[in-house]
Amino acid sequence: MKYDFAVIGAGPAGYIAAKKAASAGKKVLLVEKKKLGGVCLNEGCVPSKTLLQAAKTYRHAKHGSIFGVEVEGIRFDFPKAHQHKNNVMNKMRDGIAGLMKKYKVDVVEGEAKLLPNFQIEIEGETHEATDILLCTGSSPAIPPIPGVDLEHVVDSTGILDRESLPNHLVVVGGGVIGCEFACMYASVGVQVTVLEAMPEICPNLDPEVSASLREGLAKKGVNFNLGAKVQSISADKVSYADDSGSNELEADLVLVATGRRPNTKNLGLEELGLDIDDRGGVRVDNRGATNIPGLWAAGDVPGQAWLAHAASRMAEVVVNNITGRKDHMRYDSMPAVVYTSPEVAVVGLTKEEAEARGIKVKVGRIPMAINARYIAENPDETGFCKVILEADTRKLLGVHMVGGACSEMIFGATAMLETELREEEIEEIVFPHPTTSEIIKDVFMAVR
Ligand code: NAI
Repeated sequence: MKYDFAVIGAGPAGYIAAKKAASAGKKVLLVEKKKLGGVCLNEGCVPSKTLLQAAKTYRHAKHGSIFGVEVEGIRFDFPKAHQHKNNVMNKMRDGIAGLMKKYKVDVVEGEAKLLPNFQIEIEGETHEATDILLCTGSSPAIPPIPGVDLEHVVDSTGILDRESLPNHLVVVGGGVIGCEFACMYASVGVQVTVLEAMPEICPNLDPEVSASLREGLAKKGVNFNLGAKVQSISADKVSYADDSGSNELEADLVLVATGRRPNTKNLGLEELGLDIDDRGGVRVDNRGATNIPGLWAAGDVPGQAWLAHAASRMAEVVVNNITGRKDHMRYDSMPAVVYTSPEVAVVGLTKEEAEARGIKVKVGRIPMAINARYIAENPDETGFCKVILEADTRKLLGVHMVGGACSEMIFGATAMLETELREEEIEEIVFPHPTTSEIIKDVFMAVR
């Protein structure tokens, strides 16, 4: 069959691209070898956030007495939380299938391989397309540590299938995935230790944000060993080296969360001469175009931003360019969230990143604890909001927050950045009271 647009991979890049291109009148093929929704829906964002919410609900109930809520005999039913997680995933998958049907996208189940001249082979059948979007996602990058293949060692996909709680979870890697699972397990009473090779967790965040997140998680019971390089894993121990020498910890579940790598194998990419960068990602320009005209890439496969919402936006950018509207990615206004308790939500440049670009900045920072709604709802949490402005123009460059509800507020800061608002324009925006979002208005009073 001949298509206008073929999309390989049905994650948050693929199904959004397919829907958008089909609604613009293109004849679209969407190929998926596993399940609709990709990693985000089946092995990532959606199941992990559903389990995090289950753990948060348990913790709130357990510590409800500050609100006057006394619950007797409270317990956490992990299999039931998994059932809820599975229901959510099924509903969302049905939603995507319905959307594809509505927009008349041809969905084909199978493994696609690219052939010369824009031919695509799927399970013995060949199709053709004018444009092709590669959005095959990423997989956990497992380091060559002896023992990583043992049965009790899991990655971020494997841990989502575990329906019983361990006694001691050791997390290798204090990045976003490591922190989210550490928070979830510690919230339901599991002993958790994070081993992070760098001097601080989440090293890509604003350093004050990373430190505050670590302190917040430590208050929930997560133990952190920083500067700890894992050397080997045995049936009941994890061995690591830090400044004090060689150490070991007992563990009955080990999560390896040391990053991800783009899925570029067995797709026929080498034979086509597709440009792959040193980190294994498909090299694209800011429109998602590869070095082969008509072949595009979006989502995790270019290895630029490992975020579902970035993937969807990349997909929109590609489809806009194919359908005649000029568009490009703007990573400086790409929000990111860590769904821990406390949450982290950031958008734009940190002070350090702005200064490295030679920009003179002004910084404002206020504690979340000045906000009435925040302390009413989060009596046991600290956190702060930090804003970065360009010194001369007072243009907003970045907002960095730690604390409950940040994930629901960051889009506001994103809109301000995307529309290049300055301090005086933001001051004229009315924020509803009492809401935690007022912190974004109030932080400007602290800019120096
Ligand atoms: P990551 O790159 O965020 O963190 C991995 C951490 O492991 C680093 O801090 C690194 O220093 C450490 N590490 C590496 N080797 C180690 C070793 N041998 N011993 C101890 N520590 C070691 O990767 P992560 O957490 O696996 O996440 C992958 C990607 O997925 C990230 O880019 C993340 O942003 C994205 N993601 C985003 C989510 C969100 O937006 N909420 C949720 C989950 C993932």
